Amino acid sequence: MTHRREFLKYLAASPLLTNYSAFAQEVEETLGQRLTNPRDVINVFEMEAVARENIPPAHLGYLNTGVDGDITLRANRDGFTRYQIKPRRLVDVSETDTKVNILGSEASSPIFICPVGSQGAYHPEAELGTARAARAKGHHMVLSTQSSTAVEAVAEARGAPIWHQLYPTTRWEYTVAMLQRAEAAGCTTVCLTIDLPGGRNTETQSIMMREDNRTCTDCHRGQSKPIFDGLNMQGVGLNNPALTWDVIGRMKEVTNMNVVIKGIEVGVDAALAVDNGADAVWVSNHGGRATETGRASIECLPEVAAAVNGRVPIIIDGGFRRGTDIYKALALGASAVGIGRPYCWGLGAFGQAGVERVLDLLNRELLITMTGSGTPTLESITSNAIHDVGHRVPRGTLGRDLL
Ligand SMILES: Cc1cc2nc3c(=O)[nH]c(=O)nc-3n(C[C@H](O)[C@H](O)[C@H](O)COP(=O)(O)O)c2cc1C
Repeated sequence: MTHRREFLKYLAASPLLTNYSAFAQEVEETLGQRLTNPRDVINVFEMEAVARENIPPAHLGYLNTGVDGDITLRANRDGFTRYQIKPRRLVDVSETDTKVNILGSEASSPIFICPVGSQGAYHPEAELGTARAARAKGHHMVLSTQSSTAVEAVAEARGAPIWHQLYPTTRWEYTVAMLQRAEAAGCTTVCLTIDLPGGRNTETQSIMMREDNRTCTDCHRGQSKPIFDGLNMQGVGLNNPALTWDVIGRMKEVTNMNVVIKGIEVGVDAALAVDNGADAVWVSNHGGRATETGRASIECLPEVAAAVNGRVPIIIDGGFRRGTDIYKALALGASAVGIGRPYCWGLGAFGQAGVERVLDLLNRELLITMTGSGTPTLESITSNAIHDVGHRVPRGTLGRDLL
């Protein structure tokens, strides 16, 4: 453990690992191993510190990193500094309501679980722990194509219809087979991820893998993911670079599920998605794991909202770590906000209980922001609640650094 701690210290101090906050580093050194009860964790950054104690370096490298120099990964956090909240006073905020209904899926909160692959790499409970936490807290869940657990088992553990994320494979009949399996398992919406047509250049992950001296085949025994059962994936690509907008219509011909397009970053594409029949658009840069442009997900939202113009719901993810972040997206036109890494830190730290704690923390922070801003319902959070500074504010000039 000392060796691992020294290595993390070296990484945190070096430009190699720019995505680990000074605060979380501090927490790891002072509290990390002492936070043994999820209830003692006070924010998602502390949860990350606890997760770092448990998750092996190669798996942590897969979870936490971005692409190239992790510029978009960091931008996703910095983008929030551009927007400031304009609170209203002397509004009756004694009753609050955070319930949402997106495409028929009801949830207690606009915060939802993003599709993150291979959750068995963070905790043995894997996607079942996540689904049980989502059920306990009434949160909506989207399951990854790359899940370690079969869609049928996850749908049952969630106890309400989940959505399924789909990678557009290079074999259409396989794409159809996966779609139909998800539908048969009770999924009501399919989310087509379109932001990785050329794969990813994962440098920081490769660096972290070098630290891991376990044998990879102990975890990866050449087995494929459950959704590929019965499909011969030899030579089949998960991302089809030939895909164009007509895919939405083709999907609608073979499924009754709603079709959501995940990975929209510009207004013109949002309009194309809607024009081609998408039931919702999902603003995302894959958590800084796709395009390395430095544009934050939250900064893409205003132009997408303008292009969609209320025709379909907009959902968003990327870098959301605070109730205030979630509030800003709601004000800028999102109907729901996804989290990826934060709940995986909860899973890695404490299994289901850790995911529940992450959801509780973010819900509490969102409620504090809503009541503190004179906007007790989701409908009351409008663009009037937000001031766009027009540029990002350097974090060094703000308060305690929380990545
Ligand atoms: C380790 C990891 C695996 C992911 N796997 C998938 C996936 O299989 N399918 C997908 O559409 N998005 C995937 N994503 C992207 C998430 O759905 C989501 O867009 C992103 O994590 C949100 O950003 P955040 O992690 O900063 O909250 C993955 C993200 C991470 C961190």
